[in-house]
Amino acid sequence: MKTWIKIINQEEIPIMGSRVLEYKNQEIAIFKNRENKIFAINNICPHKSGKLSEGLVHENFITCPLHSWDINLSTGQVLNEDVTCSNIYEIKLENNIIYIKL
Ligand code: FES
Repeated sequence: MKTWIKIINQEEIPIMGSRVLEYKNQEIAIFKNRENKIFAINNICPHKSGKLSEGLVHENFITCPLHSWDINLSTGQVLNEDVTCSNIYEIKLENNIIYIKL
């Protein structure tokens, strides 16, 4: 059964930046875009395992640092590639604290 887990104050993530959460052998990248929207996605790129947390955030996308695939942070879908998408995670904000459902 999934449950909400408290992870970090949203102010600790810089705009256009990320933090990585390690949970039960999973790496989850938490991103904040220019509009202060928060996203959580598997940190491992579905192409060749690039670390998405080291990529470039733009609008609702992350560009992988290895081969520049663009991945939609809302859906996990890879843009312009016919591959499976990345896992995304449900998040919520309460009093500036980010919670993730795991
Ligand atoms: S590893 Fe991410 S685009 Fe290739």
